[in-house]
Amino acid sequence: MKIAVIYYTLTGSTGYVADIIARETGADKIRINTKKKLPDNFFKYLKGGFQSFFKVKPELEELEKDFSVNNYDLLFIGTPVWADKYTPAIGSFITEHNFNNKKVVLFACGRDVESTDKALSSLRKDIKNVIVTGEKAFVEPIKGKNETRRTAEGWSRELVKNLQ
Ligand SMILES: Cc1cc2nc3c(=O)[nH]c(=O)nc-3n(C[C@H](O)[C@H](O)[C@H](O)COP(=O)(O)O)c2cc1C
Repeated sequence: MKIAVIYYTLTGSTGYVADIIARETGADKIRINTKKKLPDNFFKYLKGGFQSFFKVKPELEELEKDFSVNNYDLLFIGTPVWADKYTPAIGSFITEHNFNNKKVVLFACGRDVESTDKALSSLRKDIKNVIVTGEKAFVEPIKGKNETRRTAEGWSRELVKNLQ
């Protein structure tokens, strides 16, 4: 089974979880970046929160030339939580690609569980033409690194095993 972990990360938490999933499942890691970066100070919360809330779709850096969602049987899609929603970069990604009823697994990393669940719900609602086969909220994944590793390994391994 060909798997990709597609993710955006600003401060590394979602990247940390994406690394674990990729290692555990043998997936390709595809990091999404916006062309314009958020300011590296307090204004990132204002600007990022505003963009998320109003579903702004920022321009993304180009992915590798041969990247296509069609090359994969399963996609993990990971996002940080901004203003109770998925990040604008993931918003751009899900509108720019046609998933053709592909199986996807969603994960989100936030500061609190309620907010992270909300972000997952909004992503599940907005992503089109997919079969959502799994979902997981990670709260402060960097704070309990070992626990996060064990959780992410067990969860992703079982998920993939059940799909094979
Ligand atoms: C602009 C912005 C808005 C955020 N809003 C929320 C929020 O509404 N709820 C929450 O739980 N965490 C919120 N956070 C915290 C991040 O979701 C959390 O730190 C996450 O783990 C960061 O992921 P990353 O390290 O992959 O970028 C926000 C962070 C930023 C930068």
